[in-house]
Amino acid sequence: MNAPAPLRISVVGLGKLGASMAAVFASRGMHVLGYDLDPRPVEALRAGRAPVQEPGLADMIATHSPRIDATTDPARAVHETDITFIVVPTPSEESGRFSLVHATSALETLGAALRSKSSYHLFVLTSTVLPGACRESLIPTLERASGRVCGRDFGFCYHPEFVALGTVLRDFLRPALHLAGQFDVRSGDVLEPVLRAVAGPDVPLRRMRLEEAELAKVALNSFVTLKISFANLLGEFCQRIPGTDVDAVSAAIGFDPRVGTRFLSAGASFGGPCFPRDNVALAELGRSLGVDCGIFVANTDYNRALTARQAAWALECIPSGARIAVLGLAYKPLSNLVEEAPGIHLCHEFLRAGHAVFGHDPIASADARRVLPSGVQVCEHLDDALAQADALVVATPDPAFRALTPERLAALRSNQARPLSIVDLWRVLDPAVSDVPGVAYAAFGRNPA
Ligand SMILES: NC(=O)c1ccc[n+]([C@@H]2O[C@H](COP(=O)([O-])OP(=O)(O)OC[C@H]3O[C@@H](n4cnc5c(N)ncnc54)[C@H](O)[C@@H]3O)[C@@H](O)[C@H]2O)c1
Repeated sequence: MNAPAPLRISVVGLGKLGASMAAVFASRGMHVLGYDLDPRPVEALRAGRAPVQEPGLADMIATHSPRIDATTDPARAVHETDITFIVVPTPSEESGRFSLVHATSALETLGAALRSKSSYHLFVLTSTVLPGACRESLIPTLERASGRVCGRDFGFCYHPEFVALGTVLRDFLRPALHLAGQFDVRSGDVLEPVLRAVAGPDVPLRRMRLEEAELAKVALNSFVTLKISFANLLGEFCQRIPGTDVDAVSAAIGFDPRVGTRFLSAGASFGGPCFPRDNVALAELGRSLGVDCGIFVANTDYNRALTARQAAWALECIPSGARIAVLGLAYKPLSNLVEEAPGIHLCHEFLRAGHAVFGHDPIASADARRVLPSGVQVCEHLDDALAQADALVVATPDPAFRALTPERLAALRSNQARPLSIVDLWRVLDPAVSDVPGVAYAAFGRNPA
């Protein structure tokens, strides 16, 4: 018997998510055609290079490049494949809702190509949208552009990914769950084997109505942000209760399976391209539906205000006139993204308070330079920041900062007369650094009594 023909998949939008999706599909034996308006990621993929920075992506693309092609011709994405994943941006509008401008434009182009295809095609939207977007807006767009009927001539699914930048490939290959919103059973039946081929048969797969999956995606992210803020709030409690360490408290309550330990570490505010905006979008959805979403609004407000409070606390720990180095400028470790990053906000606050400010990030220095005012000197190497600073503020739990051991600090400080203040928002450093002569160490969420 002949082996079944490999699945032919197209991925529309070769950005942070789409480029990794294309690579993962190819790594599972599928033939992948990437399509993007922008020729740069297309050229990169065609040359076997990663269009975006993501750990492991360059190797995966290089290894599987014989099964990856890319184009700027949208018609090829429809005519040469059976399933198209759409992973274009859905930026936040002023109201907080997600804009469908890019998804609509992509589907108009793909729909026009569908006019001249006679066989069934499945469209899978991966971009984050709010409930109603697929059925009320995107599917009608496809039907108008193609002259075809959803459910009869083509299928439609909403399949959001739960991935974190920095671990995108691992998250694709070993997800906690697959969420599949389906227009009809046939659409879900076509999608399911693709998801199984990527992550195996054991990953829970929840098939549901489009609107349920649309809500589940933003709800999950929003729930996680509530948990983060709860942990940060505990940190603020412990700051004020003598003799307490927030890690003891959160580890204890995290033991309870109703709570769990993940995302329960007190630290800086949540940032990045997804968490803050998903929270705002859910609140806006609630407002439009007449649901009281004060809890999400309060969470957004708390998260924004926390950075200002932490900056004020850091300034209490740091002598006036000190030169401050902010360590960690990305919104989290292992990422180069600086969108809504606490480290960036802290740089602004310290500048406003009249300090000379330096910054360093193991990965995001170049991106930070783009968004920071020229008054902030971004150092490529940790040692350069250390050499110039009288105070360090650790703004992400990047493992690279653990290299600041008591021994290393003692060696660095051996011929320095001036004192060094360290403010550690994530308790990354060994508390024994406070024993190093000339070093004053303060950790968020720890009150040493
Ligand atoms: N980045 C993440 O961690 C993450 C996680 C979960 C969900 N998402 C969602 O995935 C979607 C994509 O996010 P991203 O971070 O990969 O975006 P991105 O900006 O990195 O990449 C988007 C790509 O789409 C291309 N594009 C835009 N309009 C197009 C069109 N009409 N036709 C073809 N290509 C087009 C752009 O040129 C770009 O290369 C968003 O909805 C986002 O919310 C992202």
